Amino acid sequence: MDYKKYIAERIKIEGVPAEEIASYLAVPPANDMGDFALPCFKFAKILKKPPVLIAEELKNAFPTDGVVCGVSAVNGYLNFKIDRRAFINETLNKIFLQGENYGSDEIGKGKTVCVDYSSINIAKPFHIGHLSTTVLGGALCRILTFLGYKTVGINHLGDYGTQFGKLISAYKRWGDRQTVEQGGIRALNELYVRFHREAETHPEYEDEARAYFKKIEEKDEECLALFRWFKELTLKDVQKIYDLLNIKFDSYAGESFYSDKMQPVVEELKAKGLLQESRGAQVVDLEKYGMPPCIILKSDGTSLYATRDMAAAIYRKKTYDFYKCLYVVAYQQNLHFRQFFKVLELMGKEWAKDLVHVAYGMVSLEEGTMSTRKGNVVFLEDVISRCIEKAHEIVSEKNPSLTDEEKQTIARQVGVGAVIFGALYNAKIKDIVFSYDKVLNFEGETSVYVQYTCARAKSVLQKAKEAGETVAPAPITFALSEAETDLSKALADFPDTVKDAAEKYEPSFIARYAVDLAQKFNKFYFDCKILSAESEDKKAFRLALTAASARVLTNAFSLLGIDMPEKM
Ligand code: ARG
Repeated sequence: MDYKKYIAERIKIEGVPAEEIASYLAVPPANDMGDFALPCFKFAKILKKPPVLIAEELKNAFPTDGVVCGVSAVNGYLNFKIDRRAFINETLNKIFLQGENYGSDEIGKGKTVCVDYSSINIAKPFHIGHLSTTVLGGALCRILTFLGYKTVGINHLGDYGTQFGKLISAYKRWGDRQTVEQGGIRALNELYVRFHREAETHPEYEDEARAYFKKIEEKDEECLALFRWFKELTLKDVQKIYDLLNIKFDSYAGESFYSDKMQPVVEELKAKGLLQESRGAQVVDLEKYGMPPCIILKSDGTSLYATRDMAAAIYRKKTYDFYKCLYVVAYQQNLHFRQFFKVLELMGKEWAKDLVHVAYGMVSLEEGTMSTRKGNVVFLEDVISRCIEKAHEIVSEKNPSLTDEEKQTIARQVGVGAVIFGALYNAKIKDIVFSYDKVLNFEGETSVYVQYTCARAKSVLQKAKEAGETVAPAPITFALSEAETDLSKALADFPDTVKDAAEKYEPSFIARYAVDLAQKFNKFYFDCKILSAESEDKKAFRLALTAASARVLTNAFSLLGIDMPEKM
């Protein structure tokens, strides 16, 4: 039963389709105001009447029945009361029936969304700055898949550019195979940092680096082999982090993959009269659109980041025929995306409108930020390890009766969850300061609070099982308390929350929803007796509500990529 649709179909306003009316129906802030409210100012213009009058007229015309049992007009709002017990019973039945699929949908069926995320740079540290793109992109892939879209997760590797020439130069001068093999990214990064330090007094190193990069481009065997080896080492290192964060990619086609796909783009730009010479470089003028020119080729004929991104977008359209192509990249690159999206549009690619820059803010650690060149970087791996360690201390202290193995598993789930949730809880565009104490606070708006709540619900269910109780929804024959009603209504709201999160590319909606749901569950847990309820039918309802809450919390967290411990 779709209540919004049901109500909307019974309201007749000329020139306003039922779907539009349904989209205005919202859940009022307090239970006693009703279950759905329609803001009538939305129709003031088309009906040429004040909202208060519209509400009054609509109220008089509305046919109440067994489903919608009350309508009132208050301050220009039309408030509807539905048969709440039937609604709640229906919600619980749906959750029990759909289980881990509760909240899913088929709105994306037949549509492919490319998600360009994480997109790390080879031989450079995977630092805390990559956290947001990685977990945001991962969550968006899961959310969109849950809604029926086919997603293609793409790690657009930064594996092209003079930095590889620098690395070869540094490796040949100071490196040795064993140290680099064992040290992985850290060893490569040290070489990179040393190169920059020493090049300050030896400018000739820079020329050498450029020459090595040229050799890579000319497919010189030795240089290419080194470059491939650096790439392999980097990917092996970051795989550990991807495994911890539950991240998988469908494609690792990075910048170098497009090295032979840029010439046709340049030709097309030329043929369409879009290229201009500017101080030796080839550019597309964007002054009319209030942007600096987009540089396509440098004066020495080499390509740029934007050129490779254009080739990549064209390739993706051809290969995946995407409905949308998302770029989960920091807002610092706003201009870059606006520029190349515009150039593709000017080339007549009508699908340029389907390219979306999903921008996010900076993450810094409480201790301060970092720069790759200077070498004072905070490796994400270290942040995760430290969170797991801290989680281990907390879990051991809270529940000493756990076995060592249990403690380890839970510490990993809690520690990794805290890192992910810390990055996903705020609106993505906000800059955040990551604090270990904050993300691991049991009492805060945190993942561990949600995990602990879910474990609490599961422990009630475990006791019920031991007592031989069956847990299933049954018709509700008694008056529901405020806490029971609030929790049930929140459970019903999950599918819409998932859709909103997808529409706004905002996993934080789901993170916030989970905290809110956990708070409502705890209110219910402390207000109502479950196993020792006043009557059998109350006990049955409350057990079903408990099971449904654990289910929905788990579904929400799985969309974020966070595991739910069995117990804590
Ligand atoms: N590797 C780039 C960086 O670290 C991000 C790449 C984002 N994706 C893209 N298609 N431009 O800045």
